[in-house]
Amino acid sequence: MQSEDLSHLLGVVIESMEVGVFAVDAEMRIVLWNRFMAIHSGKHSEDLVGKNLFESFPELPQQWLEKKIKNVFILKNYAFTSWEQRPYLFRFHHNRPITGGVDTMQQNCTFLPVKNAQEEVEYVCITLFDFTDTAIFEKKLNHVIETLVIEKAEQQVLIKKLEAAQNQLLQAEKMASIGQLAAGVAHEINNPIGFVYSNLGTLEKYVQDTFGMLSMYEQAEEAIADPELRTKLKSARDKLDLGFLKEDLHALMDESKDGITRVKHIVQNLKDFSHVDASDEWHFDDLHKGINSTLNIVNNEIKYKSEVVKEYGELPEVECLLPQLNQVFMNLLVNSAHAIEERGTITIRTGQQGEEVWVEIADTGKGIAPEHQKKIFDPFFTTKPIGKGTGLGLSLAYGIIQKHHGRIEMHSEVGKGTVFRVWLPIRKPR
Ligand SMILES: Nc1ncnc2c1ncn2[C@@H]1O[C@H](COP(=O)(O)OP(=O)(O)OP(=O)(O)O)[C@@H](O)[C@H]1O
Ligand SMILES: [Mg+2]
Repeated sequence: MQSEDLSHLLGVVIESMEVGVFAVDAEMRIVLWNRFMAIHSGKHSEDLVGKNLFESFPELPQQWLEKKIKNVFILKNYAFTSWEQRPYLFRFHHNRPITGGVDTMQQNCTFLPVKNAQEEVEYVCITLFDFTDTAIFEKKLNHVIETLVIEKAEQQVLIKKLEAAQNQLLQAEKMASIGQLAAGVAHEINNPIGFVYSNLGTLEKYVQDTFGMLSMYEQAEEAIADPELRTKLKSARDKLDLGFLKEDLHALMDESKDGITRVKHIVQNLKDFSHVDASDEWHFDDLHKGINSTLNIVNNEIKYKSEVVKEYGELPEVECLLPQLNQVFMNLLVNSAHAIEERGTITIRTGQQGEEVWVEIADTGKGIAPEHQKKIFDPFFTTKPIGKGTGLGLSLAYGIIQKHHGRIEMHSEVGKGTVFRVWLPIRKPR
């Protein structure tokens, strides 16, 4: 192709491109102005070529733009501006109906150095691309993302609530089936324990009577005429060590009675947990009174280790079985005291919210490990050494609170402490 043909072709292409193309010389005089620029600026090439860019377009950011162009002349390097940082070089309307609140053409511009044979920059050619669509699209996208972020946060809250509800449900179901089991076990053990206990009483009496009789025989020994028989009796008595036997029999009886009493206590706890004996009297009572009397009872267990702080709110009288609630407070207080290793604080807070009241027992103890938190209400779950805890305290508390149509919440951090909060309805739901 001839070079005239080529330059003709290039001229046509530049004229008909949907891109603004213009060029200036080192004095900022316009040397090229294509059709796109003419259409959007309303000023034609014939009227502009040879004129100063900034005199022809006083609205241009002269200081900035002149520097930008001059840098290309000096550095002989390509430069660029994007719609995101500097959207409007020229205030052009964009060629579509007003959409998305963007009414002026947003532009990406390039600044090309055009060099002569001596490798000096003779002109700077500026191209101007319409990026309005992208800008509108991005604006919409950002809006969608914002909405999504908000929705996600809301969903997160919902998921948390759902998880909590599901956990509560699982816990309630588990406790119900454990309750049945506990009731069954309590019922089965109750009878044998009952007769062993009462037999022990009878046995003790029989033993006493027998020993009484024996000592009478002992006294009568002297009166036996036959010396051989007397010696025989004495040696049999010595062999038996009757003195020790008497003493030890009493000790054995006491120990057995003690053991049986403990088993009875466990059975009673299991029964309370599974609410088998539900024939109690409900009264409107003052919970603060209950907490205070419980504190008096457990004071011995807690006073050496912890300071007790009372932060009581205003409480109405609550329809409840106060002795049973006292049992709950006692178990919580004792657990708190046990959780405190050196010295700490137990804080008792109370308050009312709507139709419910709450009692909170917070300690600065060692906290509950996350893997134990789901199990603490299970009967017989304990982390205490054998013989120290039966693991019935919290399951009992759970059962009693259920019976009151309330709920118990726990929050614990290892090394910081534990808070138990008991919620109770002011009136027993009918
Ligand atoms: N305030 C607390 N701080 C730390 N751990 C606690 C607290 N309360 C309960 N626990 C944990 O929960 C377990 C179960 O408590 P629960 O009261 O049911 O039984 P226990 O105290 O071990 O025995 P029991 O109360 O029958 O004597 C405890 O062994 C302990 O590990
Ligand atoms: Mg306990």
